[in-house]
Amino acid sequence: MKVGFYGHVRQYHNLKEDLDKAISGVLESGSYVGGPVGKRFEGELAEYFGLKAAAGVNSGTDAIWLALMALGIGPGDEVITTTNTFFATAEAAWIAGATVVFVDSRPDTHNIDPDKIEEAITPKTKAIIPVHLYGQCAEMDKIAAIAKKHGLAVLEDNAQSIDAHGDTFKIGELSDVVCTSFIIQKNLGTFGDGGAVISDNTEVIDTIKRLRNHGSPARSKHSFGFNSRLDEIHAAVLSVKLKHITAFSDQRRAIAAKYDAALADCGLVLPTTLPGYRHVYHLYVVETPVGKRNDLLKHLQAQGIDAKCHYDIAIHEQEGYPWGKEARIVGSMANSEKNAATCISLPMYPELNDDEVAYTIEQVLAWCGQNL
Ligand SMILES: Cc1ncc(COP(=O)(O)O)c(C=O)c1O
Repeated sequence: MKVGFYGHVRQYHNLKEDLDKAISGVLESGSYVGGPVGKRFEGELAEYFGLKAAAGVNSGTDAIWLALMALGIGPGDEVITTTNTFFATAEAAWIAGATVVFVDSRPDTHNIDPDKIEEAITPKTKAIIPVHLYGQCAEMDKIAAIAKKHGLAVLEDNAQSIDAHGDTFKIGELSDVVCTSFIIQKNLGTFGDGGAVISDNTEVIDTIKRLRNHGSPARSKHSFGFNSRLDEIHAAVLSVKLKHITAFSDQRRAIAAKYDAALADCGLVLPTTLPGYRHVYHLYVVETPVGKRNDLLKHLQAQGIDAKCHYDIAIHEQEGYPWGKEARIVGSMANSEKNAATCISLPMYPELNDDEVAYTIEQVLAWCGQNL
C-alpha cells in the first residue's frame, strides 16, 4: 500500500463543485487581482478570527515581514523567535532587516519556551514572534505578559495552526498581529501560494495594504512598496475552504486520536498537548530515541509510507548560517537540536482513510517491535 503525505487532490475532489464554481466565477468576472472576491475573503477571515481587519498577501513569509515593516521594526531592532520552526519565520525577520535572536523551544510541545525569553531581551528588542508549531499554540498568555512588561510587539506566526486555541485564549486575542500562510499544504491551503495578516490594529492593516501594492493608497499614487497581493482565484478557493476549517481540524484530531491510542506503548514519544489547548495537528510528529530516526524513516518509506521530518535541521545549524545576516543565540539550543535529530512526521491530513491510518500504525509498530 502507498500512503501519501498530502491530501490536496482528494480535498479538491471532495469540494470540487464549490471550488470549480468559485474559480470559474473569478475567471468569468475578468477581475483577477485586487477585486471584490479578495476583499470579501479578507472580511470573512477577520470575522473568523474575531479581529477588525485582514490583508491578503502573497505568502506567509511576506505576511511576517510586511507586518514587521508596518509595525516599524527593521534594521537595528531585535526580534526573538525559535530555531525549531520552518526557515521562513527567521528569514522574514531578516528580510525586514531585523536581527534575529533565537531562544530554545520546550522539549515537549516544541514551541518557544516562555521561560527563556526574558534573558534574551535587550534595549534593542522590539518584538517576539511565537510560532504555533505543528498545530498547537505557543503559551500566549505568558508571552503576552512578558511583551507587556517590556513594551514589545507580538506577531503570531500562525502558518500551521488556524483553528487551534489555548486554554484561556484565542489566536489573535493576545498579540498585535496574526500572520498566516495559505500554501497548499497548510490546514487552510489554496492551490498555490498565499498568506494574510489579521489584526485589530486597522492602521497596521492599512499600511500592509499599501505596502503590498507598490505603496499605492489610490490609483497613480505611490510611496515605496512591493508587489505582494493575494490573487482573486486564491481568495475564492480560500473562501470555500474556510467554511470547512473546523471539520478539517476535527478529522485531523480523529486521526491523531487513533495514532495516540495505537502507538501509546510503542517506545516512541508521541505529541504532547497542553491541558485545555486545542491541537489541530498540522503535523503529527513523533520522536524516536537518538540515533534511530533515519532508520524508522527508511523503513516507512520502503513500505510505501511517505513520512517526513519537521524540521531535521534547526535554523542555527543550517549550512552557512547566518549568511551575513544579524543573528544571536541565547542559551542552549539543546531541545531544538534534539528535536531536529529525532522527529518524524507521520502522514496527517483530513482525507487520510482508515486503511491508510491502520497500515501506517502497523508499520510503525512493526519497526518499534524490532528496534526499541
Ligand atoms: C511556521 C511557518 N512560518 C512561515 C511559513 C511561510 O509561509 P509561506 O511558505 O507561505 O511563505 C511557513 C510555511 O511555509 C511555516 O510553516
